[in-house]
Amino acid sequence: MQSVLLLNAKGGSGKTTIATNLAALYATAGFNTAIIDYDPQGSSHFWGTLREENDRPAVHLIDASHKRTGITRAFQLKTPANTERVIIDTPAGISRDLLREAVDRADMIIIPVAPSPADIHATAEFVRELMLTIKTRAKNIPIGIVANRTRQNSPLYQPLERFLNSLDIPFITTLSDSDCYIDASATGLGIHELDPSVVTQERMEWTTLVKWVSQNLPHSSQSDTDLPLRIASNQ
Ligand SMILES: Nc1ncnc2c1ncn2[C@@H]1O[C@H](COP(=O)(O)OP(=O)(O)OP(=O)(O)O)[C@@H](O)[C@H]1O
Ligand SMILES: [Mg+2]
Repeated sequence: MQSVLLLNAKGGSGKTTIATNLAALYATAGFNTAIIDYDPQGSSHFWGTLREENDRPAVHLIDASHKRTGITRAFQLKTPANTERVIIDTPAGISRDLLREAVDRADMIIIPVAPSPADIHATAEFVRELMLTIKTRAKNIPIGIVANRTRQNSPLYQPLERFLNSLDIPFITTLSDSDCYIDASATGLGIHELDPSVVTQERMEWTTLVKWVSQNLPHSSQSDTDLPLRIASNQ
């Protein structure tokens, strides 16, 4: 079982969007996939319920927010025995305790960042705290950053790119600002499940992201490295 953790204490950076698209992609590629949603707002969980209604390849849903009672935490977080891929979505303003718990469960961390100065400022602070957490947990884990909701000709793009290149964390790719993400999520889908002709650019960007994930997840196998190809042939 391999788990990918989406993190950024800044709200609205794209954690849920990347979590749900990654989960949809793994599920359509034939992996037994689960989403653990730590966010009390439950956006990933809600997306998953829409997905069930739409009869798409299943993503097992785990509501890990602290709002649930009458159930032990260990039981609450249990994934089915045959789970191969776990995507972990986390809330904005994540607490230190939750950050530690989520990092302990993760095999990889992806940090999405949106282009505004406020997003860059908050992300810089967050990355500092994350690196400290990882150091104190003595955890050796791949971390990558994704620039999300970008418009290449926007004046916001260059400062973002400068910031990302200044970090000691690999800058994986940029995901464009696209209504396709909103359209897909409204029915519990990922962009790879939309008509390929309307998501040409988005799919290209995701190919880079998926390749990076496959190449950097520990113990990745042949079935990981050819994932972009399998997704393409599934459509
Ligand atoms: N690349 C994109 N293009 C267009 N819209 C996007 C993109 N990424 C995210 N969004 C939209 O931006 C909003 C915030 O994204 P999302 O919910 O994924 O962020 P988040 O980090 O999970 O937020 P929160 O911290 O509040 O949980 C959502 O309405 C989502 O549909
Ligand atoms: Mg979210």
